Amino acid sequence: MRLDDILYTQGFGTRRVCAGLVQQGHVAVAGQIQTDPAQEFEAEGLRFRVQGTDWAFHQKAYLMLHKPAGTECSQKPSTWPSVYTLLPGPLRQRPQKGAVQGVQAVGRLDQDTTGLLLLTDDGAFIHRMSSPRRHVPKVYEVMTKHPLDQAQVQRLLAGVVLDDDPRPVRAAACEALDSHQLRLTLTEGKYHQVKRMVAAVGNRVEALHRSQIGGLRLPPDLAPGQWRWLGAEALASIAA
Ligand code: URA
Repeated sequence: MRLDDILYTQGFGTRRVCAGLVQQGHVAVAGQIQTDPAQEFEAEGLRFRVQGTDWAFHQKAYLMLHKPAGTECSQKPSTWPSVYTLLPGPLRQRPQKGAVQGVQAVGRLDQDTTGLLLLTDDGAFIHRMSSPRRHVPKVYEVMTKHPLDQAQVQRLLAGVVLDDDPRPVRAAACEALDSHQLRLTLTEGKYHQVKRMVAAVGNRVEALHRSQIGGLRLPPDLAPGQWRWLGAEALASIAA
């Protein structure tokens, strides 16, 4: 693939901008500055440097982000900064068919929720992960305002009715870790589901953190606000 086309697919701007980056000597491959935008490279596995930053070619982008509190999972946030501002420009600009650009969050977390958020430009992946039939378990660490008791845990496991659906929603797993800490696993993703379920059993969520999606855990060394590419193994572990 031509070097300017490679840069274009990875979100470095229009084809004209990408050709300009190469012509102006801002792009290196294997330590060598390239000046010919038409130079051909095998895209798969290619590593390159643009304006001092190292990149690797990714046909599709799959990322995990440690979402910090006080951020919105929206491209057009109403009050708080968008999680997308935590990503480098090319990830937000990767060209896509249709109007949407760049990677998109796979589902949303509330403004005050922290933890594991997946982002991708693979529309089919988002669709599969969001399907109600998929039942990918998501693990939440919940800090509650009031002391927990076994009756609350049992009710969360047995199922509670939320105001928008007469069918009860139940936690796939639920355990009280101490008097104010709950670990809850959900296999569906209704609006504010954890907060509403905890409220339905007479308690209140003080802090909420998502620690795991499927078999993928938030790595302890990924600090709030940091992101990381997902390799094939991590990706496979999500639905394993
Ligand atoms: N449930 C909630 O209530 N909030 C989240 O952010 C995620 C799950």
